[in-house]
Amino acid sequence: MEKIWQGHLSGKISKAAESFNASISFDKKMYKEDIEGSMAHAEMLGKYGIIEEEKAEKIISALSLILSDIEEGKLEITDEAEDIHSFVESVLIERIGDDGKMLHTARSRNDQVALDTKLYTRKKLESILSLTKGLMKAICEKSKEYEDAVMPGYTHLQRAQPILFSHHLLSYAFMLERDKGRIEDAIKRLNQCPLGSAALAGTTYPIDRAYTAEKLGFTGPNRNSIDGVSDRDYALEAMSALSIEAMHLSRLSEEIVLWSSWEYKFIRLSDNYTTGSSIMPQKRNPDIAELLRGKTGRVYGDMISLFVTMKGLPLAYDKDMQEDKEPLFDSLDTLEASLVCATEMVKEMTVLKDNMMRAAEEGFINATDLADYLTKKGTPFRTSYRISGEIVSWCEKNNTVLSEVPLSKYKEFSPLFEDDLYIAIDLKVCVDKRVSFGGTAKESVEEQINYLTSILEEN
Ligand code: ARG
Repeated sequence: MEKIWQGHLSGKISKAAESFNASISFDKKMYKEDIEGSMAHAEMLGKYGIIEEEKAEKIISALSLILSDIEEGKLEITDEAEDIHSFVESVLIERIGDDGKMLHTARSRNDQVALDTKLYTRKKLESILSLTKGLMKAICEKSKEYEDAVMPGYTHLQRAQPILFSHHLLSYAFMLERDKGRIEDAIKRLNQCPLGSAALAGTTYPIDRAYTAEKLGFTGPNRNSIDGVSDRDYALEAMSALSIEAMHLSRLSEEIVLWSSWEYKFIRLSDNYTTGSSIMPQKRNPDIAELLRGKTGRVYGDMISLFVTMKGLPLAYDKDMQEDKEPLFDSLDTLEASLVCATEMVKEMTVLKDNMMRAAEEGFINATDLADYLTKKGTPFRTSYRISGEIVSWCEKNNTVLSEVPLSKYKEFSPLFEDDLYIAIDLKVCVDKRVSFGGTAKESVEEQINYLTSILEEN
């Protein structure tokens, strides 16, 4: 295939160099964005008389046919071309001859690739945003379904205080709300159009960059053409946001792996999200949750690889920047697939609330409430804390739990203990008393669900 840069050069490069240089195998994903960008560019060229209007129309209808032919499988994107830009241009020229050669007026592949990648990234980020909202919604619904289930809350993976399962699960929805915000921010900053930056210096043709920017859904053109072709911040920012989101999915998955183990038995994953073992017939392996955790590593790796690629590059475009696409696309695809699986997994999981409650009854997670009981009766908290600790230690020695200790025994530790202490240390009461803003009480959890629901309805 003839090279688009053939002229002063023979166009023949070594086979090894040719395949090393090519990006078509991965940038063909952007065929639609490439064609849409070219259509807007051609329209602008025609409108401002840079090429004849009728030629521009001819180019636009040929491009639109190329797009539908690709989508209908009538035109195959072969790996013979160097990249998607030269592929589309060569098909155009093949189909409409010399008129097709006018398309690249006042443009370079440098602004073209920057444009295509931005358009593609924006589209994928928008899809990730809607999938993120889908997971937030699934979490809200699961929380409502098991609103009253009490579980031990942990710190240091040690049973700490009783909480509502819904409260715990909802914390992930708030992480996702921030992820959503980060992605929205990334889209805002991405949304400046590089088209018309040309190779780096702008162009001598009377182009209208604001026109093409608006046509392509950008807020405006980049203000500096050198920055326009050199900027890959948008990819790094997107990948940073995706890395944080992947980390959240990974933490959720880690808990799902733990909770579905025999040791916890807090949840049961649906068969749709469980795999068996080839040798152990009893196994219910949480492979999907484990993979969600595992894929986070590659998303971080993708981000780091582009950071390293970019760090020493002189302005403006360098071919190193072709290395942006594979990690960027990989992160976008991984997050999309992860969010789909995480959402269904959460939707379909069953919460074993009796097991959770049983676990909450052990581990003295109401010891803080016992101390608070004495504090509210006038004992300084530090002293109440010590007394409560001594009672826990007595229970451990006597193999019992706080709710089983007789009042006469309690009185040996403090005369302030009365019968109402048993109500104060009842797990449900412990939960319901935590009415502070954002706390675990049912009314607080309901407020959290209402807030999230309003966010999800907003846009
Ligand atoms: N395939 C190239 C890339 O992805 C397109 C830009 C080529 N520009 C150039 N000056 N060689 O970066």
